[in-house]
Amino acid sequence: MGGFDFSKRDSFGSRMGVIMAAAGSAVGLGNIWRFPYILGENGGGAFLIIYLIIMFSIGIPVMMSELLIGRRAQRNPVGAFKVLAPGKQWYLVGMMGIISAFMILAFYTAVAGWTLEYIYQTLIGGFTAKSSADLATMFESFRSDSLRPALWFAVFMAATAGIVLGGVRKGIEKSTKIMMPLLFILLIVMCVKSLTLHGAGRGVEFLFRPDFSKITGTTVLMALGQVFFSLSIGMGTIITYGSYIQKDNNLAGTAVEVSLIDTFVAVLAGIAIFPAVFAFGISPESGESLTFIVLPGIFQQMTGGMVFAFMFFLLLALAALTSTISVLEVIVAYFSEQLGLTRRMAVLLATLSMFILGISASLSLGVMRNIRLFGLNIFDLFNNTTANILLPLGGLLIVLFLGWFFPSRDIRDELSNNGTLAVRYYSLYRFIIRFVAPIAITIVFLNGIGLLKI
Ligand code: PFF
Repeated sequence: MGGFDFSKRDSFGSRMGVIMAAAGSAVGLGNIWRFPYILGENGGGAFLIIYLIIMFSIGIPVMMSELLIGRRAQRNPVGAFKVLAPGKQWYLVGMMGIISAFMILAFYTAVAGWTLEYIYQTLIGGFTAKSSADLATMFESFRSDSLRPALWFAVFMAATAGIVLGGVRKGIEKSTKIMMPLLFILLIVMCVKSLTLHGAGRGVEFLFRPDFSKITGTTVLMALGQVFFSLSIGMGTIITYGSYIQKDNNLAGTAVEVSLIDTFVAVLAGIAIFPAVFAFGISPESGESLTFIVLPGIFQQMTGGMVFAFMFFLLLALAALTSTISVLEVIVAYFSEQLGLTRRMAVLLATLSMFILGISASLSLGVMRNIRLFGLNIFDLFNNTTANILLPLGGLLIVLFLGWFFPSRDIRDELSNNGTLAVRYYSLYRFIIRFVAPIAITIVFLNGIGLLKI
């Protein structure tokens, strides 16, 4: 093992590349698959408002914090804390991020694999003449199958590994600059189609009219978890991407832009999905099967539905791919910089270990469904514990680190690019990372898991 040569560290080549890669990480299944079903189960418009409040008051500051930690240290999440707080235990926050990365990649790539099966089904006409009950059976028997989901998982993982192997600039940046604009176009077309369906108005109303009686402590925790998951924050992905950003980039601007793109896409996904759901008289509370059972049923009843179905699942697959590469990059950066593996070996090792974890997550919906921890199968355990526990906890520790342990002058230097940019928002940012974010995350967290009742 040769040790990593830090003078040869890769980086993003342009400002546009940074935005596309970071927005690519943020925009994903979280926006198009997870956001609509969580919103549907948690009261619609009221959830959206809470989500937006958390996004602006906590999400953006945490994203800025991660970008600045990464760029300051020029390291993977574990190495970053070792550089910024030598001899201290803070690097454990980075370790927790690496564990989250493994867990997220496992269930996330499994879902991404389903999108490939669904693209395939649209091509062979697999949804034709199926009733909703047939579609539900089809989905359940597919995802509990022992082989097919595992195969699609492997295909998706291989594509992810292929891009990451190409490096930061030539793999990640280049591919996201192509995929992200395509994803936008597909999504806009889907929104137009959905809004022009007869009866679409009720879906728009569900999305935008708040009913606060539906809000409980758990709802707020779900919104917090969703913000963290959706922005890819709380586990070091943005630290890792931040470490590849050039010194003249305005980090606060980047954090705001990426968060706005992410939020915009989540709302667009809601607009693409709920009008169609209501137009066809389906319950918005259909849960995580919304995308895979309800939508094929809707597509089938639309004119030109299979073309839209193909576009929709392609959209999901692309969105997922620009996110899986960012999670794999976290693990690869850690393996190569901390353990001294070559990039090739790091990708290989990470991918092979993902096969074991990911295929277990996939099989936990089928033959391995009886293996349970805290009453959850492996898939749900990974999905829920990362978003609702590990990411908020990671975010909390990150803001505590910057707010209370890292010199304020250094933070200011990093945000202002050594005094060349004005950082008028600085006192507000500092107030948020010292008080607002830590207190809010703690309250929401304790309340959400039932340890505190407000
Ligand atoms: N932000 C991604 C999404 O919304 O789909 C999911 C994700 C990617 C979470 C990368 C965490 C991460 F590090």
